[in-house]
Amino acid sequence: MQKLTLDSANELLRDKMKNRNLQRHCFAVGKTLVAFYDYYRSKGRDTGTLSRDEWEITGILHDSDWEITTDNPEKHTLMLLDWLQDYETPEEMLNVFRSHNNKITHLREPETLLEWTLECCDELTGFIVAVALVMPEKKLSAVSTERVLKKFKQKEFARQVDRTQITQCENKVGVDINTFIDVTLSAMQRESDLLGL
Ligand SMILES: [Fe+2]
Ligand SMILES: [Fe+2]
Repeated sequence: MQKLTLDSANELLRDKMKNRNLQRHCFAVGKTLVAFYDYYRSKGRDTGTLSRDEWEITGILHDSDWEITTDNPEKHTLMLLDWLQDYETPEEMLNVFRSHNNKITHLREPETLLEWTLECCDELTGFIVAVALVMPEKKLSAVSTERVLKKFKQKEFARQVDRTQITQCENKVGVDINTFIDVTLSAMQRESDLLGL
C-alpha cells in the first residue's frame, strides 16, 4: 500500500497520461478544487472529511485514466479505481471518482459538495482555456469573468462544452455563476505557468 500524497498522485498521473494538454486539464481542475475548498471554508461551509491537499489530489486524478480509456469511455474511472487499490485512498475520495463518470458507469450519483464542484468546474476549466486561446494574447491573464460570461452566451463558441453542467453550480453547490467563474478563473490565472497559458 502506498500513501496517496500530492507527490504520488502527480507521479501516477504522469505515469498514466503522457499528453501535456490532458495533464494540464487535470492540474487546472486540481488547483480549482483547492480554490473552492478555500472559498467554502471562508464562508463557513462544511467541506467534508477530505483535506485541502486531498481536494487537489481528487482534481489531479479525476481524469488520469482518460488517455488510456478514450476509446472505451465505459472504463473511464473504473481503471483509476483499480489503480487506487494499491494506495491508501479515503472512501470519500473513491466516491468522487465513482460519481465522476456516473452517466456511463452508473456507480454513484454526485452528492457531496466536492462531487458537485468537480462536476461543475470540470467543463468550465476547458471553456476558460478556449476563451484564453481566442484572445489576441492567448493568455489567461487577458481573460475576465465578463468575457467568459459573454462567450458563454454565444452558442456557437466551444459548442461541445455543455453549459448546463456548469450552471448547475447555482442549484447544486449554491454558488452563483459569476462567483463560480471568478473563483475558477482566478485559480487558473495563479497557475498560468503550470497551465502553459
Ligand atoms: Fe472525466
Ligand atoms: Fe475532466
